[in-house]
Amino acid sequence: MHPKKPFSQACDNNKGPILDTLRQVFTAPTTVLEIGTGTGQHAVHFATHLPHLYWQTSDHPNHYQLCQPWLIDAGLPNIGNPIALNVSQEPWPLMEFSGVFSANTAHIMAWHEVEAMFAGVGRGLADSAVPENEERGQFCLYGPFKYNGDFTSASNQSFDQHLRSHAAHMGIRNIESLIELAQSHGMVLAQDRTMPANNQLLVWRTTTEPEAL
Ligand SMILES: C[S@@+](CC[C@H](N)C(=O)[O-])C[C@H]1O[C@@H](n2cnc3c(N)ncnc32)[C@H](O)[C@@H]1O
Repeated sequence: MHPKKPFSQACDNNKGPILDTLRQVFTAPTTVLEIGTGTGQHAVHFATHLPHLYWQTSDHPNHYQLCQPWLIDAGLPNIGNPIALNVSQEPWPLMEFSGVFSANTAHIMAWHEVEAMFAGVGRGLADSAVPENEERGQFCLYGPFKYNGDFTSASNQSFDQHLRSHAAHMGIRNIESLIELAQSHGMVLAQDRTMPANNQLLVWRTTTEPEAL
């Protein structure tokens, strides 16, 4: 094992349940862009178990190298070296993807960054051709969310307070606000899957007819 591999217990706990959904969503060979890769544990797990995908890692320019120890240790042919991507930058360094995955980012980013993430994802999915047997470009967003302003658990409410006490721009997002935002960028909520530990996996799908590969 690489001595400096960063480790997230939450990633280790949720990688199995997330994989079960990704298997059903990303069925055809394609490039999946991961936004906010973090430690790289998710990237290695998903690329190992979904070898038909090319998993393109990325993170904020201040953190994008963090995942390197996991990627180097795994040595997988279907993981792309991390690219520096701040969702607020224009243009994005990579726009060729027909799938997107992001975990635990929407409550860390400021709202204007969440807006930029949906704008960039919507643009990229609209511009990229989708694999032949998939209907639409898809964006899987994992994390805790609120419904009509209500938390799904007391622990999520405490987590939200904890986030806001550290930085006012952070906080658990309302799903209704995300639905509205997604619509303005050509995406609809296709699935909302309840996951362990009071999290959700939201699957957004483009609404326009894609061009086949
Ligand atoms: C809580 S960590 C989640 C990391 C990993 N996805 C996971 O589930 O463990 C939040 C991630 O969002 C990234 N992030 C925050 N703001 C960002 C931005 N403006 N653009 C791209 N990534 C951002 C951080 O660098 C960090 O990797």
